[in-house]
Amino acid sequence: MSLAESAGALGKTKKHGLSPHMSLRPGVLSERYCLPFVSSVASNSWFRQKQFEVSVNPHGVIEATDFDHMARALQLARRGLYTTDPNPRVGAVVVKDGRVIGEGFHVRAGEPHAEVLALRQAGEAARGATVYVTLEPCNHHGRTPPCVDALIAAGVARVVAAMRDPNPLAADGFARLDAAGIATASGVLENEARALNPGFVKRMRDGLPWLRVKLAMSLDGRTAMANGESQWITGEAARGDVQRLRARSSAVMTGIGTLLADDPSLNVRLAAETLDIEGVVRQPLRVVLDTRLQTPPTARLLTLPGTTLVMTAERDGACRARLETAGAEVCVMPEVEGRLDLHAVMCELARRGLNEIHVEAGPLLSGALLAAGLVDELVIYMAPHLMGSEARGLLHLPGLERMTDRVPLKIADLRAVGDDWRITAVPM
Ligand SMILES: NC(=O)c1ccc[n+]([C@@H]2O[C@H](COP(=O)([O-])OP(=O)(O)OC[C@H]3O[C@@H](n4cnc5c(N)ncnc54)[C@H](OP(=O)(O)O)[C@@H]3O)[C@@H](O)[C@H]2O)c1
Repeated sequence: MSLAESAGALGKTKKHGLSPHMSLRPGVLSERYCLPFVSSVASNSWFRQKQFEVSVNPHGVIEATDFDHMARALQLARRGLYTTDPNPRVGAVVVKDGRVIGEGFHVRAGEPHAEVLALRQAGEAARGATVYVTLEPCNHHGRTPPCVDALIAAGVARVVAAMRDPNPLAADGFARLDAAGIATASGVLENEARALNPGFVKRMRDGLPWLRVKLAMSLDGRTAMANGESQWITGEAARGDVQRLRARSSAVMTGIGTLLADDPSLNVRLAAETLDIEGVVRQPLRVVLDTRLQTPPTARLLTLPGTTLVMTAERDGACRARLETAGAEVCVMPEVEGRLDLHAVMCELARRGLNEIHVEAGPLLSGALLAAGLVDELVIYMAPHLMGSEARGLLHLPGLERMTDRVPLKIADLRAVGDDWRITAVPM
């Protein structure tokens, strides 16, 4: 008997599928259903570690066809990749008698959630249907009413979630649904759902944003010439790829060293059509770590649409006033050994609701973030040229003397982008 057949046969034992004590073996479901999806998704350390733990959640009951409908819900959720911030990307599908009768995805904070849009499309037919949603429906009044209310009012019979909501404020959606007599199950393609929202999940779980450090280097591992020149190491295709990473991020961060050397824009320059979104392209917050408040009021990033946050340890009122007049927000942070306390910086950014931080800094700040254990992913573009031994290295990591001091990484992905190579590495 195939897995699908056995799931179907066992499913007949109860109105809405298997009873928890009759659940299918997690390993079997993982092999047959999860691996093809898992291999195609992004990665970070905790996400990769959890890859083989998913599939059957003791909270509920999972049927074989649940995976197909959840895969569609995930496709829909992905359409919010560039727009939902600070909210998570979520998709939903309403299915009745094996037929899809409603679909939706969350587009922007303040706008309806995915389940509500899918229920609207389904209309009266939603009564008795199954709803697939990539995140447990919320149970709180935020900018919109609780989704569980809409599901209960629609009279759905069953709700399947890819993952439980890590937001303590919105949690317990399932408890409300259970109390209303609606069957629930979770854990279907959970890794894929987590991979869509690494920043939201980490912020809710740890009170810290998820951090990606992007660097461009030559084949001999150099990131700038001795005179500080570094534009451009990689080709147009790689720079276009970086634009997409910026566009999905809550903030783009740099250090004062890069700001003074390159006067970068740190903005998103892709058109809405290129990102396949409707409306205006969201500009991530620009963040400059500048211990002594050296940012010139004439810096290019202060002249562009969007907000720039300068984080500093300097309390000098005049310096601060000049930058604020030029349009920056200045935030004074604690310092450790003469530089900003990076952990405090990250806590502050999470407190402001920032999920995913994309760092484009030089070796000093990039190395310090890695050494502080704050980096979730390194994205390194490697260009086919040599910059020589006078040029600057990739990451400033002093104090590594013995082979046992090496920083272990796992290569999560490696692919060509134009003439360059993109290496995605995850600290272990
Ligand atoms: N190839 C690439 O991918 C790439 C990317 C970006 C930049 N670059 C190149 O990198 C060079 C600049 O690199 P950089 O290393 O000098 O500058 P950086 O890493 O961009 O910025 C370093 C500065 O960040 C500030 N900072 C605040 N808190 C910090 C902390 N806890 N730890 C470390 N830094 C902290 C420090 O300012 P204070 O000194 O005032 O404390 C420090 O000098 C330029 O030549 C640029 O062109 C290359």
